[in-house]
Amino acid sequence: MESKKIVIANLKMNMTFSEVKKYVEKIRDIHTKRVVFCPSALYIPYFLGYDYSVGIQQIANEDYGAYTGQISSLQAKSLGAVLSIIGHSECRLHLNETDDLINGKVKNALKNKLNVILCIGETMEQRDMLRTDRVLRKQISKGLSGLTTSDLQHVYIAYEPIWAIGTGQVPTNRDIKKTIQFIQKQVSKEFRYEDICVLYGGSVNHKNIKSLSTIEECAGFLVGGASLNPKEISKIIEVAVKE
Ligand code: PGA
Repeated sequence: MESKKIVIANLKMNMTFSEVKKYVEKIRDIHTKRVVFCPSALYIPYFLGYDYSVGIQQIANEDYGAYTGQISSLQAKSLGAVLSIIGHSECRLHLNETDDLINGKVKNALKNKLNVILCIGETMEQRDMLRTDRVLRKQISKGLSGLTTSDLQHVYIAYEPIWAIGTGQVPTNRDIKKTIQFIQKQVSKEFRYEDICVLYGGSVNHKNIKSLSTIEECAGFLVGGASLNPKEISKIIEVAVKE
């Protein structure tokens, strides 16, 4: 089946400088803007200038100022990044990001014309307690609070069940489809926006990409671990992004 998804490679906090240089050599033949590499912010300049897009994994909620160690969406945009991942579960967990802070980051990115990938997802415990819908509803409602329909044209929601990230466990296609439809319904109900793009993330790899790509409701994939291997991410792109 013909599919034309987007693929976001979240390289997380990986690779030394010499490894990055080798990696960039190996992905230079990717000629589509529908693929976005998000390396450590330090390495963004080395990914620029090719035919794929480049994004940032994390931004602050202010443009500039006394925020030691942080990077703003204004800075990322001025360098050439096209999007920022916001609210990744690893940032919610390790950096104590709250929904309010995440909302501030979303608004700041949009103000600076950086597209947004808002990550949402439930833990296994929440899933077992049948709380997935409630958790997602809150993350959507708070994360997107105050956004207009024209803002929402620049927002993608990445549905990333926390129990699927880096574990090799993936929900069934049926479950992913159902959850994406739920997310779309919520955004439509609360924000009167019908066309929100929803991606899936969590243990996407070269073996399951063919099957995952058949989910029509899914606009693309956020790929972590599998994106560290240039051959594997190239295979994933080949299947998911047919241009
Ligand atoms: P994974 O990570 O592909 O390694 O599961 C996905 C993510 O954290 O975005």
